[in-house]
Amino acid sequence: GMPNHVKIVEVGARDGLQNEKKTVPTSVKVELIQKLVSCGLPVVEVTGFVSPKWVPQLSDAKDVMEAVKDLEGARLPVLTPNMKGFEAAVAAGAKEVAVFASASESFSKSNINCSIEESLVRYRAVTSAAKKLAIPIRGYVSCAIGCPVEGAISPSKVAYVAKELHDMGCFEISLGDTIGIATPGTVVPMLEAVMAVVPVEKLAVHFHDTYGQSLSNILVSLQMGISTVDSSVAGLGGCPYAKGATGNVATEDVVYMLNGLGIKTNVDLQKLLVAGEFISKHLGRPSGSKAAIALSGA
Ligand code: HMG
Ligand code: MG
Repeated sequence: GMPNHVKIVEVGARDGLQNEKKTVPTSVKVELIQKLVSCGLPVVEVTGFVSPKWVPQLSDAKDVMEAVKDLEGARLPVLTPNMKGFEAAVAAGAKEVAVFASASESFSKSNINCSIEESLVRYRAVTSAAKKLAIPIRGYVSCAIGCPVEGAISPSKVAYVAKELHDMGCFEISLGDTIGIATPGTVVPMLEAVMAVVPVEKLAVHFHDTYGQSLSNILVSLQMGISTVDSSVAGLGGCPYAKGATGNVATEDVVYMLNGLGIKTNVDLQKLLVAGEFISKHLGRPSGSKAAIALSGA
């Protein structure tokens, strides 16, 4: 049945901003993160310690992490694609990290410049270093439904990568529809395959809203027992290596739906609207959240 409580993992400051063409000042990112933490969100992903040549927008990862590392009330994970990123993240004060593998060979190559197997070798090194420091590590599987190059990805491939990440010690596996093509029709068989090899309590779903299917996909995931959902304030986002992919599902829309279902999140929707308005104003475009637009009465 449906969970009583859903843990929202807010990815706006990382997934949301990584694809922005214009550099967002570090101070704006820091203020956004502060506002998001004050909403009661339990997890606020901060940045990625990735190559600045690949993702210039996150080249201030160290400064952002150092500025927010002592914020209380939320866990503040960061992406780490390799040992170099892991070491830099820890040095900057990160207490939780995430690795990101792909279920598509082509996307693995374009996103992290290696094969799936090579990435798993790298991530075993990161997870064993993290274990020694007692740092919890999350694993992402991108292209869990489809890939911009290869098209549909088989659920068995997703299950394989998810199980590898779980076996190496990731405490949670986030299944990402990187390009936002999923419908409940493709989400159900993918989750069935993954749930056969990784316990459902360890799984999260991560939807992008390219086709407007995210809330339906989340609802069907909740019905299957998922209780962790990734989302992005104001629907910010897109992946630099997934052309045409739009933002993550908007956190405001997820909270509005969960409130309607009587499912607890601990998130203060009014404060979340303020955070969404802050970043939308800064970016100079309307919020990507329908709930935010409706509730702001604009
Ligand atoms: P590479 O070019 O193969 O790496 O990139 P390399 O080891 O050959 O190093 C090349 C240069 O990068 C060197 O610098 C390294 O020092 C530097 P140089 O000697 O040329 O001056 N370098 C680094 N610098 C800073 N931090 C590091 C780092 N590593 C190497 N960690 C690499 C391989 C993985 C580094 C690169 O491809 C990369 O950074 N990729 C990250 C791409 C990314 O962040 N994508 C977006 C996140 S994934 C996503 O959005 C999907 C998700 O949301 C889920 C979903 O939606 O499904 C998670
Ligand atoms: Mg994403």
